Amino acid sequence: MSALHPDLKRVILSTEEIQTRVKEIARQIEHDYADAERVILIGILKGAFIFLADLSRELNIPHTVDFMSVSSYGDAAVSNGAVRLILDLRKPIKNEHVIIVEDIVDTGSTLQYLYNTLKLRKPASLRTCSLFQKKRESKDVPIDYKGFELPDVWVVGYGLDYADTHRTLPYVAELRAEVYE
Ligand code: IMP
Repeated sequence: MSALHPDLKRVILSTEEIQTRVKEIARQIEHDYADAERVILIGILKGAFIFLADLSRELNIPHTVDFMSVSSYGDAAVSNGAVRLILDLRKPIKNEHVIIVEDIVDTGSTLQYLYNTLKLRKPASLRTCSLFQKKRESKDVPIDYKGFELPDVWVVGYGLDYADTHRTLPYVAELRAEVYE
């Protein structure tokens, strides 16, 4: 691996570790939806697009993908918990089996907002999947498929960004605190 970018403190998860876990999550979903006619994976932009691309190509059951986008933290690593819908689904999800695919759950505000919003549209079932969850107190929203727990630091790579930088790194790394403080 080439030298770490000076903004980065350390690699937390390697490409191999992430790929192995993505495959395990795909197997779990295949098992749980073996009897379903199809599943709709809803990726939350922008952070989840790389995870969704890998997960969907790994998944050996009929499925489609769609996207939503909600307001995020902006360019700073702080949030007031307010969530706003920026881009909605292209098709209704009534009577469909739906899985929300998130990159990371921090306070849980985003996932809770998405869960409550989509539940109102009466899907046949609604589950949540997040590749990462930060180890700290978060809103009481269930994560049915969870990849990894991470320390409460700012992480980048594999879809996760800081002010739109470092998003396409193939691994997950901790951002130096000096960069965002
Ligand atoms: P929550 O609403 O507090 O759970 O925040 C979730 C959203 O915040 C994620 O979808 C990410 O866009 C962003 N986020 C939270 N922590 C990180 C991080 O460490 N790196 C990059 N994005 C993060």
